[in-house]
Amino acid sequence: MPYTHMKSLPALLFLFSTAANITPQRRQFRRRQFRLPDIAFTSPAPCCAKADMANSKYEYVKSFESEDEVMYPNLIVVRIDGRNFARFSEVNEFEKPNDERALNLMNSCATSVLEKYPDIILAYGFNDEYSFIFKKETKFYQRRASKILSLIVSFFTSLYVAKWNEFFPHAEMRFTPSFKSRIVCCPSMEVLQAYLAWRQRECHSKNQYNTCFWMLVKSGKSETEAYNILKGTQKQEQNEILFQQFGINYKNLPSMYRQGSCILKTEVDETVKIHDKESPVKRSRKMVKTVHSENIASRSFWNDYSYLCKELGCFEQNVNNIKHEYLKLFQSENKLLPFTWIVIRIDGSHFHRFSEVQGFEKPNDEQALKLMNVSAVAVLEEFNDIVFAYGVSDEYSFVLKKNSQLYQRRASEIVSAVVSFFSSTYVIKWKEFFPEKELKYPPNFDGRAVCYPSYEIIRDYFAWRQVDCHINNQYNTCFWMLVKSGKSTREAQSLLKGTQALEKNQMLSQLFGIDYNTLPVIFRNGSSVFWDKMVTDNGVVAKSHKKVVVDHPNIIEDDFWGAHPLILETTSPRSLSLSLT
Ligand code: GTP
Ligand code: MG
Repeated sequence: MPYTHMKSLPALLFLFSTAANITPQRRQFRRRQFRLPDIAFTSPAPCCAKADMANSKYEYVKSFESEDEVMYPNLIVVRIDGRNFARFSEVNEFEKPNDERALNLMNSCATSVLEKYPDIILAYGFNDEYSFIFKKETKFYQRRASKILSLIVSFFTSLYVAKWNEFFPHAEMRFTPSFKSRIVCCPSMEVLQAYLAWRQRECHSKNQYNTCFWMLVKSGKSETEAYNILKGTQKQEQNEILFQQFGINYKNLPSMYRQGSCILKTEVDETVKIHDKESPVKRSRKMVKTVHSENIASRSFWNDYSYLCKELGCFEQNVNNIKHEYLKLFQSENKLLPFTWIVIRIDGSHFHRFSEVQGFEKPNDEQALKLMNVSAVAVLEEFNDIVFAYGVSDEYSFVLKKNSQLYQRRASEIVSAVVSFFSSTYVIKWKEFFPEKELKYPPNFDGRAVCYPSYEIIRDYFAWRQVDCHINNQYNTCFWMLVKSGKSTREAQSLLKGTQALEKNQMLSQLFGIDYNTLPVIFRNGSSVFWDKMVTDNGVVAKSHKKVVVDHPNIIEDDFWGAHPLILETTSPRSLSLSLT
C-alpha cells in the first residue's frame, strides 16, 4: 500500500483518544511527530481474525496451485474408504464378518454428513466405505475436487471418533481411525447408475465371501485352509457351502449386511402455521431416511423417490452389465508431478465459528494451538515421508520428501489420508487439551496438494506462510487489545485500516504497554514440526534415535534450514530411479 494511504500513528492515537480515556502521558506521545518507514508487508483489513492471504514478495508461490474444478454436467460422487481398517477392526475386536455396531456407527456418521450438507442427496455404504452423491447443480465449494473430498472425509472421520462411545459404550477406541477419499465423476445418469450397481455388487460379493470364510474359520479351519477352499468359487458354490455345511440360507441374513445401507433425502409436505392469526401454509421439509434395498441401481427403486429424480435425474433402463470403460473411469486418479516437494495444506473449515462456539481465547488460544501441534506430530509419526510441517491458527502445511512414492503420488489419497488422520487425532486429543470443555460439534478441515519444484521455491512457500502468520498475529493482537479496551469491532477495524507493521507495534507499546517482540514465540512465529535427534539427559546425542519435535524458529531466514540440512535434502532423480530398479 502506498505511503500516502497509510494512517499515521499520531492520527491513530487521536482517533483512539477521542473514544477512550487515555493518560496524559500518552497524549504527550501523540503530539510527537513520527516519520514512519515503509515496511515490506501491508496488512489487509479482515473483520477480526485471520487476514486473507497477505501480500508479500513470497506470494508468487500461490501460482503453483492448480485448478481442479469438476466441470458441469459431471455428477460428483465422493467415496470414502477406511484406511488400515483390517487392523482397526482387529484391534477393536469387531465381530466377523460383520459387526452391527460398527456398521451402525458408519451409518450414523453418513446420516450426519447428509444432514450437514444440503447438496448431498444420497449416500450408499457397506463395510468401511461410503459414497456420497451431490445434486447435479451443486456449487459446493465451487466444485473444487480436493476441497470437496477433504471436507467430507475430514467431517466423517471427526464424526466417527466423536460418536464412537455412543456405539461402543464399553470399549475404548484403540488405534486412530482414518479414511481415504476420492472424487468419482459421473458424466451422465447412466454412469452414476453403473457406479451404484458396481458398489452394490461389491457389497454383495464381499459379504458372501466373508460370511463363508469366517464360518469356515469358526468351524475349525485355519485362515489359509478357508482361503484355499474358497479360491475360485462362484456365488452359487458359496451359497451351497453356507447351506450344506452350516445350515445358513444366505438370503435370510440381515439385509444391511447383504445389501448395504442407502441413506437418502426425501421431501415431505407439512402444514405449518407461521402466525397464530394467519391460515396454515404448506411447506416441504427434507428428511433423511435409511433403507436397505436389494437393488439401488434399479429403475423401480430409484424412480420411486421423486426427490432423487428431481435433484439428480431418473434412470431410463436397468443396468445389466457394467461396462469396462466405466470401471476404468471409477478407478482413475491423478498423480502429482514426480521429483517435486508435495505440500499438503489443511485448513479448519469455518473455524471462526468453531472458535467462537468453543470459547477460544482471543486472539490466540494456546491450548488450541497446542492441540493443532500435537495432531501434526501424530501425522508426522504416521507418514514417514512427511519431513516437515508448519502450522499457524487453524492451518497446517505438511511437506513430503521430494522423491516420495506415498500412494504412488496419487493426489486424492495423500490429501485425504493426511486430513483424515489429522482430524481424527484432533478429536481424540481434544479432552487432553480442554478437559473442562466439551467438544460442541466435530470440526473438519479442508486440504489441497501443491507441488513445488525447487529448493528456493519450497523455502519461499514456508516464508510465505510465516509472513502471513506475522501479519495476522500482529493485526489480531492490536485488534483484540483495542476491543478489550472498549472499542467496538468496527472502530478497531477502522483504526487499523491501512496501518503498517511498525505502526501496529508502536500502537501496542504506547497504548497498551505491550512489547510485541516479547509475546509468546508460538504466536509470533507459528509452529514447526520435524524429526530431530534425541538428546539424552547427559547431553549426548543418541545415534539413530530421532523423535518428532515442535519448535518455533524463524523459517524465513537461513539459520534454521542451515542447522537442519536433512529436512529438505534432495535425492537426484537418477539415483532414485537406480534405487527403484
Ligand atoms: P474457512 O477456512 O474459509 O472455512 O474460514 P474460517 O472461519 O476457518 O477462517 P480462516 O481459516 O480464514 O481463519 C481461521 C479462523 O479461526 C480465525 O479467523 C479465527 O476466527 C479462528 N481461530 C483460529 N485460531 C484461533 C485462536 O487461537 N483463538 C481464537 N479465538 N480464534 C482462532
Ligand atoms: Mg479456516
